[in-house]
Amino acid sequence: MSLLKLKDIEKVVDGERILKGINLEIEEGDFVAIIGPSGSGKSSLLYIMGLLDIPSSGEIYYKGEFLDLKNREFLSDFRNKKMGFVFQFHYLIPELTLLENVMAPQIKKGVSLKEAEEKARYLLERLGLSGKEKRMVYEVSGGEMQRAAIARALANDPEILLCDEPTGNLDSKNTERVMEIFEELNREGKTVVMVTHDLSLSKRTKRVIEMLDGEIIKIS
Ligand SMILES: Nc1ncnc2c1ncn2[C@@H]1O[C@H](COP(=O)(O)OP(=O)(O)OP(=O)(O)O)[C@@H](O)[C@H]1O
Ligand SMILES: [Mg+2]
Repeated sequence: MSLLKLKDIEKVVDGERILKGINLEIEEGDFVAIIGPSGSGKSSLLYIMGLLDIPSSGEIYYKGEFLDLKNREFLSDFRNKKMGFVFQFHYLIPELTLLENVMAPQIKKGVSLKEAEEKARYLLERLGLSGKEKRMVYEVSGGEMQRAAIARALANDPEILLCDEPTGNLDSKNTERVMEIFEELNREGKTVVMVTHDLSLSKRTKRVIEMLDGEIIKIS
């Protein structure tokens, strides 16, 4: 079944068409890599898929439901409920411990402290960060920060995980670890969309979307 459907998406910024007539369907349980040269529109497309940005024209459907792209409040609420994000830079809150960082989105959603902590501990353990829950962000390595950021993205059980070059700042060992986590999540049924420059990673996904100059030139 189609989870996310983009229809005739256009994005114009300062008179320049940075996305040109994008038509795309992401299936439930899909694992998709978005590749293409720098400036081809990968991030712009991902942000529109994640409702972080709205297109200049076109339609977006989620599980067949038409999303009202003019209603910002609805979109941010919808996004918080359904979507998780991982970026090249982790955006963890430096004043908080890893545990608190993973608890934060749950607390914001109204989950009790106890429940949020249990879930955060479980996720950090899953991501190989047991024993580091109480460390501050600056007290762990870059690879560990990125894994904590993935734990945080999973905190509210998103249906789809949208990742923009999640391994862009990682060495090969940590890249492999993060990729294995995505593969495992996908095997469990999570839908994963990942922008990457790393063709060895895109070989491991179910589908590859290739972009050039704001257009999808190939889906394989
Ligand atoms: N907010 C913006 N304002 C102006 N131009 C933008 C904006 N966002 C993106 N662009 C332009 O749109 C084009 C696509 O950018 P985008 O960031 O989507 O590319 P990308 O494929 O993710 O590149 P990279 O691999 O370098 O991250 C570029 O020409 C970029 O300069
Ligand atoms: Mg980008």
